[in-house]
Formats: sequence, structure tokens, C-alpha cells
Amino acid sequence: MKRRSSHCRWIRKVLALLLLSFCTASLVLMQANYSHITILSSLVSHEAVDQKPKIAFLFIARNRLPLDLVWDAFFKGEKEGRFSIYVHSRPGFLFNKDTTRSAYFYGRQVNNSIQVDWGESSMIEAERILLRNALKDPFNERFAFVSDSCIPLYNFSYIYDYIMSTSTSYLDSFADTKEGRYNPKMHPIIPVHNWRKGSQWAVLVRKHAKTMVNDDIVFPEFQKHCRRRALPEFWRDQPIPANGWKEHNCIPDEHYVQTLLAQRGLEEEITRRPLTHTSWDLSSSRDKERRGWHPVTYKLSDATPTLMETIKGIDNIYFETEYRREWCTKREQPAPCFLFARKFTRAAALRLLNLSMLALN
Ligand SMILES: *[C@@H]1O[C@H](CO)[C@@H](O)[C@H](O)[C@H]1NC(C)=O
Ligand SMILES: *[C@@H]1O[C@H](CO)[C@@H](O)[C@H](O)[C@H]1NC(C)=O
Ligand SMILES: *[C@@H]1O[C@H](CO)[C@@H](O)[C@H](O)[C@H]1NC(C)=O
Ligand SMILES: *[C@@H]1O[C@H](CO)[C@@H](O)[C@H](O)[C@H]1NC(C)=O
Repeated sequence: MKRRSSHCRWIRKVLALLLLSFCTASLVLMQANYSHITILSSLVSHEAVDQKPKIAFLFIARNRLPLDLVWDAFFKGEKEGRFSIYVHSRPGFLFNKDTTRSAYFYGRQVNNSIQVDWGESSMIEAERILLRNALKDPFNERFAFVSDSCIPLYNFSYIYDYIMSTSTSYLDSFADTKEGRYNPKMHPIIPVHNWRKGSQWAVLVRKHAKTMVNDDIVFPEFQKHCRRRALPEFWRDQPIPANGWKEHNCIPDEHYVQTLLAQRGLEEEITRRPLTHTSWDLSSSRDKERRGWHPVTYKLSDATPTLMETIKGIDNIYFETEYRREWCTKREQPAPCFLFARKFTRAAALRLLNLSMLALN
């Protein structure tokens, strides 16, 4: 009997000790977590006070960025860190001091890039990969796609102010009625009245960027039914399409985001014009099958003050298929239509930079 009660007391003591150490431990842990949280929240609020909304520049390159020095001058003009940079280049490509002369691009290649084939939906997937990476930063509020032959036409603060002056995306988008690129097989998932065309070089707001990365309805339709028609020399490698000449010649990145936002009823949230100037020319190619509208590439001899004045002077755009003329405005005041321009060779862009025709700083 006596033995038993002392045994009980011993057990009680052990239990009490266990309980006490448990309480102390949790107290210590809670304290640790509390101070951790306090430090974190002070960091966040500190950052939130100092950090202004950013524009994410999303570069799509084959390999290097030939115009890196022009963009270097452009970003140097910004002292408040109101931008971030993401580059999609071929898988494995590394931006470091051997491959670019601008430190802004070191380590900015996304690590999950894919092989992009021209005229394939892999271009859209590359855009979605860039957006997925850029959306991780909550301060990125605008997402600007930039080609590797594109130059900025104004300094950073002007471009930032212009893009932020409205809560809309800037997207070249118009009804595409003429070219027969719509594939009726997309019906009824994508009805023809939502079929749009426009340039891929858009500036998206965060909401539309999320719409694009979360889309699992329109993108699969594009993968199945929007493909570029193979040129005759490739027919050797592929089965000859039965209705070869009537095949829908569809270039996915010229339709995707425009059609997606129309599908979602979001066109009210778009300024329906591009910010990137491209000059189109009916090429004089001798090969009839290759003939079509091609973007003009500006070479060294084209890089003149007159060219810059002409592009910067454009104040309206006419959309033929919609009989719509957009007079370009910013905060309801007349404004130049274009902030960026393509396509420039490296020599042409460097000449413009050298002659201070870009006035980026
Ligand atoms: C602090 O809290 C987080 C979640 O609120 C938890 O994941 C973490 O394990 C905690 N750390 C400590 C030291 O208790
Ligand atoms: C890419 O980087 C992120 C963050 O640094 C990492 O979590 C992820 O595993 C990386 N992905 C690949 C494919 O290396
Ligand atoms: C940027 O360019 C605009 C328009 O060209 C000009 O008015 C402004 O003074 C420039 N700002 C800076 C900081 O150079
Ligand atoms: C830029 O201008 C300087 C002097 O005006 C000249 O020496 C240099 O070769 C030029 N560079 C380019 C790329 O045109």
C-alpha cells in the first residue's frame, strides 16, 4: 500500500515536470515566432512604404539580347526601382558578363524556359512562363512584353507615367474577319464573334496576366486548332495535308490574348491599341507562297532623326476591319501613340543611342 502511493507521487511529479517543460518550450517557441513575425511585418511594411508599383519587362529572345545596351541606358534613368526584368531565352542560356554587357540582365533568364518554335503555340507558353515568374512579385502591377529587336522611344519616367495613367491593359486587338484564320473546329468553345487579332507585344494589368496564366480553356483550343501552315519544303517531313491549300493558316500569338480577353468579357478593361510600333510591308519576295505582310527591319542607314520624329509623331491608328480610328490620349489629353518601336538591328539601335536620338536619361 505504501509502496503504491509513493509510486503514484513519483508518476505525478514526472507528469508535472513534463507539463512544465512543455509550457516553457511553447512559450519560448511562441516568443521566437512572435519576434520573427514582428521582424517580418516591419520588413514588409517598410518595403510597402518605400516600394512603388513596378512594371515587369518581359523580354522574349532567341539567345542574347542584341539591344541590351539601349535598355541599359533606359533602366539607368530610373532611380526608384519601379521595374523588374525577366528574360525568356532558349533553355540553358545564361545571362552573365560573357553574354550581355548590361548587369541589369545578369541572372534574369527564367530557369524554366522552353524551346520556342515560330508560329507555334510554344510562343504563348513562353509568355505564360514569363508571367508566372513575374506574378510572384506582388509589386509587379504591369507586365510588358518586349521583343529582342525593340527599343524604348522615351525615358523611363515618361513611359512609367504613361502606362500607369490608366488602370487598363494596352492591347492591340481588333475583329479578324478577313483572313479566314478562324478554325470553325473551335466552335462552340470559342465562337467566331470572339475571334480577335493583334500584336503579341501587349502591356497587361495584373488581373489580365493572371487570367492568361490560369486559362485552361482557350489555350488548349489554340494548341489543337491554331497552327501555322507548313511551307512546301516542310511537306516532305510531314504527311501532306489533304486540303493543304485550304488549311487555316493561324499564327497563335497574333490571336491568343486578344481572343482570351474577349471570351472573358474583359474588353472594357483594355485600351485597344498597341504601344509598340511596327511597320508592315508587303514583301517583294519572289516566292509566291512566302509573300505576305512582314515587319520592316530598320538598318543602320534607316536610323535617322526623321525616322524617330515620324514614329513619335503618330497620334492616331486606324483599324480597318472595325472602321475604328483611335486618337491616342493619356489622361484625356492628346498623346503620342507609341512608347516602343521595332524592329531595329543592333547597329541601328546603337547609332540612335549614340546620337542621343533616344534621350533615355
Ligand atoms: C511559426 O509559425 C509558422 C506558421 O505560422 C510555423 O510554420 C512555424 O513552424 C512557427 N515557428 C516556430 C519556431 O514556432
Ligand atoms: C527555379 O527557381 C526557383 C526559385 O529559385 C526554384 O524553386 C525552382 O526549383 C527552379 N526550377 C528549376 C526548373 O530549376
Ligand atoms: C523624360 O522625357 C520627357 C518627355 O520627353 C521629358 O519631358 C522629361 O523631362 C524627361 N524626364 C527626365 C527625368 O529626363
Ligand atoms: C559613337 O560616337 C563616338 C563619338 O561621337 C564614336 O567614336 C563611336 O564610334 C560611336 N559609336 C557608334 C556605335 O556609333
